[in-house]
Amino acid sequence: MSARNSHLVVVGSGIAGLFGSLLAAEAGLRVTLVTKGVLAQGNTHFAQGGICAVLGPDAAAPGDTVQAHIADTLKAGAGQCNPDAVRILCEEACGDIAALERFGVVFDRDADTGRPALGLEGAHSAARILHAGGDATGAAIAEGLIRAVRAAAELGTVRIMEHAFVRDLVLDGGRVAGVSLLAPGGAPRTVIADAVLLASGGAGQLFDFTTNPAVATADGLAAAWRAGAAVADLEYFQFHPTALAVGDNFLVSEAVRGAGAVLRDSTGAAFMASYHPEADLAPRDVVSRGIAAHLSSLPGSPGDTVFLDATGVEAAHGAGYLARRFPTIDARTRELGFDWTRDWLPVTPAAHYWMGGVATDLNGQTSIPGLYAAGEAACTGVHGANRLASNSLLEGLVFGRRAVRHFASSAAHAGAPASCAAMRQPTALEPGDFGIGDLDPGAAGPVPLSRHGLQRLMGAHAGVVRNAAGLGAAARQLAAWRPQASRSGAPEAGPATQAGAELENLRLVAELLVNAALAREDSAGAHFRSDFPEAPAPGRGAHSWVRSSTGQD
Ligand code: SIN
Repeated sequence: MSARNSHLVVVGSGIAGLFGSLLAAEAGLRVTLVTKGVLAQGNTHFAQGGICAVLGPDAAAPGDTVQAHIADTLKAGAGQCNPDAVRILCEEACGDIAALERFGVVFDRDADTGRPALGLEGAHSAARILHAGGDATGAAIAEGLIRAVRAAAELGTVRIMEHAFVRDLVLDGGRVAGVSLLAPGGAPRTVIADAVLLASGGAGQLFDFTTNPAVATADGLAAAWRAGAAVADLEYFQFHPTALAVGDNFLVSEAVRGAGAVLRDSTGAAFMASYHPEADLAPRDVVSRGIAAHLSSLPGSPGDTVFLDATGVEAAHGAGYLARRFPTIDARTRELGFDWTRDWLPVTPAAHYWMGGVATDLNGQTSIPGLYAAGEAACTGVHGANRLASNSLLEGLVFGRRAVRHFASSAAHAGAPASCAAMRQPTALEPGDFGIGDLDPGAAGPVPLSRHGLQRLMGAHAGVVRNAAGLGAAARQLAAWRPQASRSGAPEAGPATQAGAELENLRLVAELLVNAALAREDSAGAHFRSDFPEAPAPGRGAHSWVRSSTGQD
């Protein structure tokens, strides 16, 4: 069954998808917003720390500038950012924050001055993180935008499809023409549209330790790859240093270290100063690697956990501060039996954010005409090899808006497709260097594929520290798990259920990530090879472009 009816299908209901849908509706486009769960599910909802922006002179921290935000983003990205994307992100931040407020999002304000309250996070040279509900920024943004989207749906300007799982893109003559999906109840359906915006989020479910919810399974990237889209930077997966080491890896925001908390080992030593001059507020990749290095350097059996000590923050600001400033973390840690005003929290690095994604230009255009991508599903190169804290919600806003505006302005004349050359220069790597099919599936044992097994494999071999032996073993196992349907080149014969399709998507993108990491024989940002610790040679391309030659894996 198929339904025609949209100018634009938006896939995903995080910040990029919600904001993009609202702007598209305002531009007079017929929009269908598709999400595989309910609107509020997804990574945006769980974002704590906030969203960066250097506000005007009356509201920014003294001395802070957009130039400083640009410089911090480039530095955290380990020399691998697309500078044009970074400039756009930082320069256009203020306008999109104002648009968020127009849609009903309310940010916290300083009780004394009435100005926006600004937090500090790692690798920022100034406090410039707007937050809402203390540490519930993502939830506040999502709720504000969802209210606005539901109001638009009542007016008939946005059509919402919840519990609809997008399996694949529909192509017509090389141009995207809609999506095929499993409707609620599992019935296959097609939604035809002039363009598709992939805002389907990330892939934390690739790893056994992750801050991401169960829905983060890279479905958009997998569908784009099967359709033949270029993807980039897949080797760069950020591990957040401070997820709780117990329970469900609940995130303990970097803003807590911004407020003065420190990492300690089991002997009580605050160790991060030995690894970076900025100590606990070094870039995330540095802190996660510092934790790994420190644990392996300890004599005896140090255990596999470090601790976040926020007791000094409470002492410095007075009783009740942690609960007021970080109510979500306070509630969750208490549920788990910790009183963090007195106890150190056991924490661990956990998969948090994928810098890689579907390659786009600065207007969200992918290499497939009519296909746009924004937010975590996309790769503009704005984050380079390591995203600066609190730039992710901002990226969803700025590039979600740019994608929709680009489509709205070009829809009348069916918009010229982007070419890869117009987006980024390919690196020296050729697609065949790590295309699927290089590895011998027969070399691995007959372990059945499961989400948990895949996550453990990725955690063991493709995490904070990698090497050729581990990545090679992972690649062989992932190839061995390649399902018969994919090998026969008949994706329509693929998994019929959402759970099966999610698992196959995870396996596919795991294989892409591992092969990209194997091919990149240097270390930058979140991609650290113990066998190739050197930084990329000057002139080495920042982006590894890979593309399926057949349009299928
Ligand atoms: C955090 O609050 O530490 C996460 C924010 C982010 O990932 O940018």
